Amino acid sequence: MNEQEANPAVRTVASTQSEMTEIILPNDTNVLGHLLGGRLMHFIDLTGAMAAYRHARTFVVTAAMDHIDFIRPVHLGDLVTLKSSVNRAFNTSMEVGVKAWAEHTRTGETVHVASAYLVFVAVDEHGNRLRVPHAEPETPDEARRYEDALRRRNHREKEYARRKEAKLATSGLA
Ligand SMILES: CC(C)(COP(=O)(O)OP(=O)(O)OC[C@H]1O[C@@H](n2cnc3c(N)ncnc32)[C@H](O)[C@@H]1OP(=O)(O)O)[C@@H](O)C(=O)NCCC(=O)NCCS
Repeated sequence: MNEQEANPAVRTVASTQSEMTEIILPNDTNVLGHLLGGRLMHFIDLTGAMAAYRHARTFVVTAAMDHIDFIRPVHLGDLVTLKSSVNRAFNTSMEVGVKAWAEHTRTGETVHVASAYLVFVAVDEHGNRLRVPHAEPETPDEARRYEDALRRRNHREKEYARRKEAKLATSGLA
C-alpha cells in the first residue's frame, strides 16, 4: 500500500461505520438492575472512537461529548448494541454519531436507548494535531447528518465563546 492509499484525501462515511455489542452483567448495573449511565457513556465513547480511528487512521482523543438523553433503561442481562459513523470531518476534528439499542435476550424486543454526538481530534504520538481526510457522504441520510454536523459545530463554537466570556465576566478580568 503506498502513502496515498494509506492516507487518502477523502474517505467515505460508510468506511467508518463501526459496531459493538455488550452483555450487561451485575457489575455494569445500579441497585435497580439498570445499566449505569456512566457505563453506557463509556461504551458510547469507545464505539465513537472506533469510527474516528477508521477515518483518521491515527491516534484520536475525545474532545467533546454533546448532550445525551438516556431514553429508556437497559436491564441486567440485556444485549446493548452501539453503532457509530463519522458524520463530518473538519480540519483536525471529526464529529461522530453514536446510537445505542437494548435487546431483551429472551423476547428479542429491541429498543433505542440513547444517542450522542462526539468530537474526536486526530493527534500523533506526541499529541500534535493532524489533519484528517474529508468525509464523503453517499446516501441521503449521510448527507443530512453531514449538513447537521456543521450546524452543531457552529453551535458548539458559539456556546464555547459564550461560556468563556461569562467566565471572564465573573472573574473580573473582562
Ligand atoms: C482536544 C484537544 C486536542 C484540542 O486541543 P486544542 O489546543 O484546544 O485545539 P484547538 O482549539 O486548536 O482545536 C483543534 C480542533 O479541535 C476542535 N475542538 C477543540 N475543543 C473542542 C471542543 N470542546 N468541542 C468540539 N471541538 C473541539 C476544534 O474545533 C478544532 O477543530 P478543527 O481542527 O477541525 O477545526 C485538547 O483540548 C486535548 O488534548 N484535550 C484532552 C483530550 C482528552 O484527554 N480526552 C479524553 C481521553 S481520549
